[in-house]
Amino acid sequence: MSDNEPNPNEPTHGGAIDAELVRALEAIILVATEPVPVELLGQILGHPVEVVASLCDSLAAAYDEAGHGFQLVQVAGGYRYQSHPDVAAYVERYILDGQRARLSGAALETLAIIAYKQPISRAQVAAIRGVDPDGVMRTLQGRGYIDQIGRDPGPGQAVMWGTTPAFLEKLGINSIADLPAIAEFVPGADVVEALEEGLRIPQVADVAIALQKVLARHGFGSRRVCEDLIDEGRVRVNGVVAELGRRVDVDTDRIEVDGAPVGVRPGLVHYLVNKPTGVVTTSSDTHGRPIIVDLVPPEPRVFAVGRLDVDTEGLILLTNDGDLANLVAHPSHGVDKEYLVEVEGGEVAGNRLARLRDGIELDDGVTAPAKVSQPEPGVLRITIHEGRNRQVRRMCDAIGHPVRRLVRVRIGPISDRTLRPGQWRELTLDELRALTEAVATEVRKYDRDR
Ligand code: URA
Repeated sequence: MSDNEPNPNEPTHGGAIDAELVRALEAIILVATEPVPVELLGQILGHPVEVVASLCDSLAAAYDEAGHGFQLVQVAGGYRYQSHPDVAAYVERYILDGQRARLSGAALETLAIIAYKQPISRAQVAAIRGVDPDGVMRTLQGRGYIDQIGRDPGPGQAVMWGTTPAFLEKLGINSIADLPAIAEFVPGADVVEALEEGLRIPQVADVAIALQKVLARHGFGSRRVCEDLIDEGRVRVNGVVAELGRRVDVDTDRIEVDGAPVGVRPGLVHYLVNKPTGVVTTSSDTHGRPIIVDLVPPEPRVFAVGRLDVDTEGLILLTNDGDLANLVAHPSHGVDKEYLVEVEGGEVAGNRLARLRDGIELDDGVTAPAKVSQPEPGVLRITIHEGRNRQVRRMCDAIGHPVRRLVRVRIGPISDRTLRPGQWRELTLDELRALTEAVATEVRKYDRDR
């Protein structure tokens, strides 16, 4: 072999990874519909299996280090790309988008009432449904199915509601007159009786509790407020949107509000860890660096919620609770995170602090407003809501004060000054509930403001 010819046993030439080999590897794994066995990659690329395997491992580590939204993983005897667990919530929203767009039972019922009875006031809808329709009417208006179409000429001049052209379009009809007659849907008395029979709650050995009562006990507000939550279709029991009147068995039923689990299921663990520097927030590391999961018990297997840079210290959550992790990773960016930051260059001038507070231009866009104070010269306390890659470091770089030391001291309602670097403890039930509620509140705000 001449000096110029690539040596198939050596994926690097002159120290740099063979760029073409890497690109070919990426392309094959990208188009493959199944995990690609390393032997096959070796054959196609003309390199020994060990070389290709080590290249795949280096690539996987490089993607992780760069903080991509995908990972290269080895599964079922081959390599494939998959989305990063950190961004599972976005992927889930993308996949479920069609399903989420469906209206809840409460909204459909309200829409039907408005369609058949229009023009109709909010109070009249409430009288028919027996519950406050405010939330669902907002949803229906937001979706463009109903709108204000006038005012009642009588006392009080109530706003009257009706359906929109978008509603007709969705139903594929020309006018409201084309709606089928209600009488066609009313079953005979015998059928009604048979249906109701099945719905009646058994009187004996009934361990079930009214859903709104359970929610109220878990701090979601008064029973009335909890009824509204149910009415707005925001509560699910065992994955199904709950209707008012639903009773639940707290030992076996799985309750969620806005996707946030209520209560704790057996087998779930939630660890608060104080990550020291030098530990990576991945579940494996090809460079042999210590990994975060090694700081906690090996069973049950847990994963980190979000990530901290290898050089960042401080609080991070590890759990096997996918629901909670998804919520914290929701596009609302979960909860506030507070950092203590020691920066280079001594005291930071007021105008620079103001830039951090107001939002600062980074290469991936302007940051959201942040809370920033300087408890002592050159030490900043920064609270941010977003979770962009290396965000605090990049913000400080942008004002000319690179980070010397970065410590996360709070995640939403969770902080602990007594936990030493490398130590962990389980979240208390109160902490877990406070965290779940804080995240659910952010998710609600996000969904409402969208
Ligand atoms: N911001 C950073 O720059 N790094 C972290 O690890 C966390 C927030």
